[in-house]
Amino acid sequence: MNFSKALLSWYELNHRPLPWRKTKDPYKIWLSEIILQQTRVEQGIPYYNKLINEFPTIFDLAKAEEAKVLKIWQGLGYYKRAENLHLTAKNIVLNFAGKFPSSQKELKNLKGIGDYTASAISSICFNKNEAVVDGNVFRVLGRIFGINIPINSNKSFKHFKSKANDLMKGAPPGTYNQALMDFGAIQCKPKNPNCKECVFSKDCYAYKENKVTFLPVTNNKIKVKTRYFNYLVFQNPKKQTVLEQRVSKGIWHKLFEFPVIESKREIKNPSTKFNSKIKLYSNEPPTKIFPLSVKPINHKLTHQKIVVKFWNIKLSRKSSLPVNESDLSTFPVPVVIENFITQHYNRGH
Ligand code: ADE
Repeated sequence: MNFSKALLSWYELNHRPLPWRKTKDPYKIWLSEIILQQTRVEQGIPYYNKLINEFPTIFDLAKAEEAKVLKIWQGLGYYKRAENLHLTAKNIVLNFAGKFPSSQKELKNLKGIGDYTASAISSICFNKNEAVVDGNVFRVLGRIFGINIPINSNKSFKHFKSKANDLMKGAPPGTYNQALMDFGAIQCKPKNPNCKECVFSKDCYAYKENKVTFLPVTNNKIKVKTRYFNYLVFQNPKKQTVLEQRVSKGIWHKLFEFPVIESKREIKNPSTKFNSKIKLYSNEPPTKIFPLSVKPINHKLTHQKIVVKFWNIKLSRKSSLPVNESDLSTFPVPVVIENFITQHYNRGH
């Protein structure tokens, strides 16, 4: 079987007309690839268009305010990526005169660019022989060649990278990489792949051995952790409230949120655990504390389930708080908070 030849003929007939396919501008390819690490193509396109409209060149992105970049990224998750996007734009403007380096090594030295993104940029924009390895590549090669190394194990990346590189020989690198990813997304899908009409059905190990649902192999050790977030929604008669910026490295990096108390289990009644936070913003005890919904909201992330409860902390006339409620919608916030703000503040305004 000539793998790359069959793949490229399939691609010519079936490729998706994506907005970033008309260009080899590394800035645009970089943006699209970072977005596509966060979400599927259909959901990624509006984000891509928004970023390009707002920041047509790397110089525009470099001089943007970080909060603006985060705001556009809002909803995509893993906000560290947005921060890195901004840092790398600044770095390229400052140290590379606004031009992306073309070598794999230099690209990988940039913040937020790992082997996958570096390979995509160097192959698509600079015609370098670097195969990409993403979830699609694990799946397609895992199935066709019957590779049973768990894809989340340490040695899997090296193995798949070397296989994908071997198969690429003689093919145009950028097209080959995009073909492999499109093939994984459209044809060799995780669920219900279209094996009956597939250019590889005669050679595909998984199809012939009836193992399509068992390949690629994953090691299912990662457990979903449940966390309980209690958001303190301060409110005073001047229509002011409090937001804090998340500084920890974990989820929602650098986004804003109401002051939060994390607890081991669900808190049902106003708790003394809230006191230290309340004292930060008010010298007097609140006039009222009550939950804003009876049932908490379950917010699912890849490896965490966040159980969210909003508590209204009503303060007296004397208090003064840092954020006007009318400004709430301008802050970059997690989606669960954005939904809350829309429901509780924006009605009829
Ligand atoms: N997924 C991530 N990057 C992609 C690309 N360049 N083409 C198709 N699917 C992708």
